[in-house]
Amino acid sequence: MADETVNTNREWEPKIIAFLCNWCSYAGADLAGTGRLQYPPYVRVIRVPCSGRINPIYIIKALTDGADGVMVSGCHPGDCHYLSGNMYARRRFTVLKKLLTTAGIDPDRVHFTWVSASEGGRFADVVREVTEKVMKLGPNRTCEYAENVLGGNRI
Ligand code: FES
Repeated sequence: MADETVNTNREWEPKIIAFLCNWCSYAGADLAGTGRLQYPPYVRVIRVPCSGRINPIYIIKALTDGADGVMVSGCHPGDCHYLSGNMYARRRFTVLKKLLTTAGIDPDRVHFTWVSASEGGRFADVVREVTEKVMKLGPNRTCEYAENVLGGNRI
């Protein structure tokens, strides 16, 4: 029985959703790829026009649908192609962190960062950092919790 638990934990691989701005962070991820930089393979990328276009509901939805972590990355301050989208994103993110805590979701599962198109190495570092954090937190049980509450089951 104890061995099964150990095996289950070994087989767990985190699912991390990365919302990347098309103009900077997505290009940074591309550069990491073309530069053959090594980073953990648990990130699923969703390309968005600007980090300011990411509705916080997308992040909550990802977490309640089974993602173990979410990463949002946009252009550095002053570099947003839509001028201030990244600043709106940062403000929303600050509020979202508080909301996640209230909803019982560990806010450390969500990470906000800036990566430019020329920072392939930084992109790889951020993915490593986010993956380490999520692996320390373990599997996200928010999905099971939501199913139990919505399904009327006792937890
Ligand atoms: Fe990159 Fe706005 S265009 S964050």
